Amino acid sequence: MLHGGGAEAAEIAKQRLSRRRFLRRSMLAVWGVSTTASVAGALYMLYPALSGQFGSPQTVGKKGDFQAALPDKSVINQAGVFHIPAARTYLVHLAKDTQFLLSGEDLKGQLDSELVLQDQDGSYWIALYQRCVHLGCTVPFHGECGSFKCPCHGSHYNISGEFIEGPAPRSLDRFQITFEGENIVVNTGVQNDHVPHPDATTRLIAIPRAECA
Ligand code: FES
Repeated sequence: MLHGGGAEAAEIAKQRLSRRRFLRRSMLAVWGVSTTASVAGALYMLYPALSGQFGSPQTVGKKGDFQAALPDKSVINQAGVFHIPAARTYLVHLAKDTQFLLSGEDLKGQLDSELVLQDQDGSYWIALYQRCVHLGCTVPFHGECGSFKCPCHGSHYNISGEFIEGPAPRSLDRFQITFEGENIVVNTGVQNDHVPHPDATTRLIAIPRAECA
C-alpha cells in the first residue's frame, strides 16, 4: 500500500494513462470513419452498378408507355422512338408489321445478334446507346427521314441503329433489354458494341428514301 507522495504519484500516473487511452481511441475512431468513406468511394468508382445509375439495369417504364410504330411513322417520344436520358438510351419499339429485309432463320439470327427483342404481341424492342460510335456525340433522331443522323460529322444510322453512311466504324451500340412483367428493363451494364457495317446479307431494315433535314 502506498502512502503520502507515493499515492499521489500513482494517481497522477493513472490519470495520464486514461487520457492517453482516450486519445488513442478517438484517433482510431476518426481513422475508421475516414477509411470507411474511402472504401465506399472506391467501390462506387469501381462498381457503378452498385449505385443503380448508368452502367446498371434500369427500369425505364411500362410497355404501355411506349407506343409501337412502323419505321417511317415514328415520332420522337410519341411513337416508335423514345429518348430516355437517364439510361442514355433511345428505346425503339417497332410495330409487328415492320418490313424486314431478311426472313426465317436469317432474320431470327440477325435480330439476336443485334439485341432486338421480339415481344409476345409480335412487336420489336431495341435499346440503342445514344452515343455516336465515331467520336461520341449524342445522335438525334430525325422523324422526317426515320433515322438517326449525327450533327458532328454526319454519321447516319437507320431506326434500328444500323450504319448507313459516314465515318462511324460500325452500327450504333445497343444495350440488353428484358421484360419484368410489364416493366421494361434496359441493362446499361451489358452492351453490344460490335455490330459491324451491314451488308446485303445482314441489313435488317431498308435505308429510308427520305432525306434528313
Ligand atoms: S461523332 Fe458522330 S459522326 Fe463524328
